[in-house]
Amino acid sequence: MANVTVIGAQWGDEGKGKIIDWLSNRAEMVVRFQGGNNAGHTIVVGDKTYKLSLLPSGVIQGKRSIIGNGVVVDPWSLLDEIGRIAAAGLAITPDVLVLAENAVLVLPLHRELDALREDAASQKIGTTKRGIGPAYEDKVGRRAIRAIDLADPASLPGKIERLLAHHNVLRRGFGAPDVDADGLLAALNEIAPKIAPFIGSSWRELDAARIAGKRVLFEGAQAVLLDIDHGTYPFVTSSNTVAGQAAAGAGVSPRAIGTVLGIVKSYTTRVGEGPFPTELTDATGEKLGVRGHEFGTVTGRKRRCGWFDAVLVRQTCITGGVDGICLTKLDVLDGFDEINICTAYELDGKRFDYLPADANMQARLTPVYETLEGWQETTAGARSWAELPANAIKYVRRVEELIGAPVSLLSTSPDRDDTIMVSDPFVDR
Ligand code: IMP
Repeated sequence: MANVTVIGAQWGDEGKGKIIDWLSNRAEMVVRFQGGNNAGHTIVVGDKTYKLSLLPSGVIQGKRSIIGNGVVVDPWSLLDEIGRIAAAGLAITPDVLVLAENAVLVLPLHRELDALREDAASQKIGTTKRGIGPAYEDKVGRRAIRAIDLADPASLPGKIERLLAHHNVLRRGFGAPDVDADGLLAALNEIAPKIAPFIGSSWRELDAARIAGKRVLFEGAQAVLLDIDHGTYPFVTSSNTVAGQAAAGAGVSPRAIGTVLGIVKSYTTRVGEGPFPTELTDATGEKLGVRGHEFGTVTGRKRRCGWFDAVLVRQTCITGGVDGICLTKLDVLDGFDEINICTAYELDGKRFDYLPADANMQARLTPVYETLEGWQETTAGARSWAELPANAIKYVRRVEELIGAPVSLLSTSPDRDDTIMVSDPFVDR
């Protein structure tokens, strides 16, 4: 099966957008399977930069693109994004985009609840306030409104009533006014005919692709350390971000997800709250942030930066199901005299070679570092191993050893062409 699944193997923002765009060149279908418009993918093609949030990256190359059932979809945001991409010269028609009929909708009341909670919380999660968590809660609470409901306007008043019976109680607890049911109905009825042409069946699209022998790329959002089960709970997103979710969130066999490529940044970043053992709050952290342009695509927030944490990535390769990694942003480490890699943690006199599950313990870990000699040459834009300085190659090889997964791809700039392929994820296994 020549499919590939791409996931983030740290806390997100590893550079998945570029790699997915690069891989989608050779795929015939691209599928999102979790998350929503909390994701932000930046794709640079020549002198054009595209910022995608909900749309699968395949749209940039006109590939059939599926928003799978595991995604939570803000329909207003989706239309805005389609409009912005159209203004940049790329028409997104139903020939290109399919929205799974059983995908759950993110409504204004979800965004409002997300913000009410974050603003009121003494211990914030630092969410994107896009309503992602509240929408997933309604999904598992079996009261959500789904894409297919837009095709059946007569069913909407009853569904809204059921949803608001839950939400209005919560809102009153925050001192917020009840939701205007008529206003929500009118808004959904207004948007329904604009979304309806895109609604289809994710599993049937994928089954047809399987029968036709088409190559499919499953596009993960966020990353394993933000996974609702395997991440740094409670400072996580509300979906499963591991590769296995590609099957459930699109409607395919677990065997259909193909080779799993974990995207890994050459150092570590995190947006939002939560533990981060190798975080650097000094000039070195600042330098990584400035050189790596570490500002969030979605919220514009400054990302926290630190050294590469091999303990975490070794663990996420296991829990995420990663076969090989793509190491990104190696050039940000150019010019450092010494580079640290975290190889273990210490806590209360004990050594850990994994991340303890307890959030209080996670917050108190001290990293144990191995120091490697840096390189002064530039690796930015390198397109072959031969162009890399010896110490950069040593760094990459040491990362591979420590995380127990091979480097399949190396990305040396945001540009599509600045990519070194060690093994082809669509072919090599
Ligand atoms: P939520 O997904 O908006 O609920 O936010 C939960 C946590 O996930 C917060 O720490 C966010 O900063 C983080 N998060 C969500 N989406 C992304 C992403 O695409 N990249 C990086 N962090 C993200």
